[in-house]
Amino acid sequence: MQPAARMSRLGTESAFEVLARANAIAATGNSVINLGIGQPDFQTPANVVEAARKALADGHHGYTPSNGIPELREAVAADIENRIGTPIDPDCVVIVPGGKVTMAMAMMMFGEPGAEIMYPDPGFPIYESMIRYSGATPVPIRLYEESGFSFSAQEVLASITSNTRLIILNSPANPTGGVVAKSEIDALVAGLDAHPNVAIMSDEIYSRMTYDGLEHVSLLSYPSIRDRLILLDGWSKTYAMTGWRMGWGLWPASLVDDAVRLCINIHSCVNAPSQFAGIEALQGPQDAVVAMVKAFDERREIVTAELNNIPGMSCVRPRGAFYAFPNIRETGFSAKTLQDRLLEEAGVATIAGTSFGQQGEGYLRFSYANSVENIREAMGRIREWMAANV
Ligand SMILES: Cc1ncc(COP(=O)(O)O)c(C=O)c1O
Repeated sequence: MQPAARMSRLGTESAFEVLARANAIAATGNSVINLGIGQPDFQTPANVVEAARKALADGHHGYTPSNGIPELREAVAADIENRIGTPIDPDCVVIVPGGKVTMAMAMMMFGEPGAEIMYPDPGFPIYESMIRYSGATPVPIRLYEESGFSFSAQEVLASITSNTRLIILNSPANPTGGVVAKSEIDALVAGLDAHPNVAIMSDEIYSRMTYDGLEHVSLLSYPSIRDRLILLDGWSKTYAMTGWRMGWGLWPASLVDDAVRLCINIHSCVNAPSQFAGIEALQGPQDAVVAMVKAFDERREIVTAELNNIPGMSCVRPRGAFYAFPNIRETGFSAKTLQDRLLEEAGVATIAGTSFGQQGEGYLRFSYANSVENIREAMGRIREWMAANV
């Protein structure tokens, strides 16, 4: 057999690999606390589950329109308008099986040999993986720990070349928990006026998870880039629905037909009951979301304080999502070594910063999607392990 050469350029997401190793260790009877996982440790709200059950009982078993059922696209448009204040045409909303799919579609649309696509580093690993797969050249956007893992707008603008097709942004961010300041986004958007052919994909899947009273700043609130902005969001994180595979993309009107053709070619449509659940999630009571974000906020305080208490680690305050990204350079270990040894010797799963790009060396990602009790126990184990090994 001779698979296409591009298959060798496809990367992966180490979180799944660490999860498999953590499960294998747990299966031998050893205790592992998983702070590696990127999904809420909450159940999908009961009213949402019930909506899916009802959809199945009502006979919604067939294909749906490829871009999603109209009621769901209307619910998404209304939700965006509610939160961001921008009127949205539901026909520009494309429902897909998870946030990742909008990402892959954007890369397939804009990536080809000779093209450059910019992406945050450290960032969600699938960005770089899919850029490489498309044949385009990945151009990292450096994030700075000293500015809470923000990029510098001037640096991003200075890296744009005549080959730049697409810029990927992600705030609040995985893996850093960073939130980019509005002033930096303002500067970037203003500078983009000089580059009218460059598209922007803003991954705002953690848009509902900001802390310290910070308002989420959506790229959608900038009219000057509206006609070249792809907005990625979905239900996975906000409604604890990672396994339902429900995401949405808001596409520029000029790209909607292409996005829908990709859907038709790849997955036909998202399963019908999940789409009905998605309507209930958006239109039903939001108290479960509020309670989940409150719980994450409390854990964030604990994780940050505990990490800063571990000799060799220092952690800037995460402002969004459910991740902390401490600097571990003073421990003397590489990120991968510390990840592996903490998993195997201390029974705590974390993810090496290098899984998120070259700039991630010297950092570990901690997810605080776990109980306060487990987080405290994990931190105790790490402190003890450090005392014996550093
Ligand atoms: C930044 C970011 N974007 C997108 C996704 C993908 O979400 P989904 O599970 O809906 O595909 C994730 C998941 O971890 C993420 O962290």
